[in-house]
Amino acid sequence: VKHARDDGYAIDDDRARIDRDRVYRWISEESYWSKGIPRAIFERAFAGSRPFGIYAPDGAQIGFARVTTDGATIGYLGDVYVELAHRGKGLSKFLVGTIIAHPDLQGFRRWMLVTSDAQGLYRQFGFTDLAHPERMMERVHPDPYGQGSRR
Ligand SMILES: CC(C)(COP(=O)(O)OP(=O)(O)OC[C@H]1O[C@@H](n2cnc3c(N)ncnc32)[C@H](O)[C@@H]1OP(=O)(O)O)[C@@H](O)C(=O)NCCC(=O)NCCS
Repeated sequence: VKHARDDGYAIDDDRARIDRDRVYRWISEESYWSKGIPRAIFERAFAGSRPFGIYAPDGAQIGFARVTTDGATIGYLGDVYVELAHRGKGLSKFLVGTIIAHPDLQGFRRWMLVTSDAQGLYRQFGFTDLAHPERMMERVHPDPYGQGSRR
């Protein structure tokens, strides 16, 4: 599945096209949630999820997200990232909209994600605060990669 915008930006779910060195740099160095993640763990996460890339008109990858899913009942959206120079152009909205419309990711009972400050992005796509937080539980490592990463 490949989606191009009129201005030439495109989203592609082709796993082989992902620039993993670049995405690893974003996630391990620039993200607030996964700073210091070892390359081997990043690679395992990549292999076990559905990656999506955003590409500039020149073909360079400038954004990423991945969905962890059983392909039937639940999807977990994570590692959403748009390169600084390309922010504010609606690309994360293009990305989230494309992902939740993907033919392989339909009919789920639940989509989930965690964000510290981008709730306003995901609300535009039907994500809400937890209706019943008392029903949900989590088991969270406080500092998985020893960097004081906040979650
Ligand atoms: C957050 C991020 C993905 C947004 O990407 P972007 O392409 O610049 O965002 P868009 O241009 O598509 O606009 C995002 C929309 O969500 C809204 N929004 C809400 N919270 C936001 C936030 N924390 N950052 C950016 N936009 C936010 C914006 O107002 C905008 O809505 P609008 O167009 O109706 O005003 C990007 O800033 C980024 O990669 N940041 C660093 C990593 C990160 O925080 N990722 C998200 C983890 S959950």
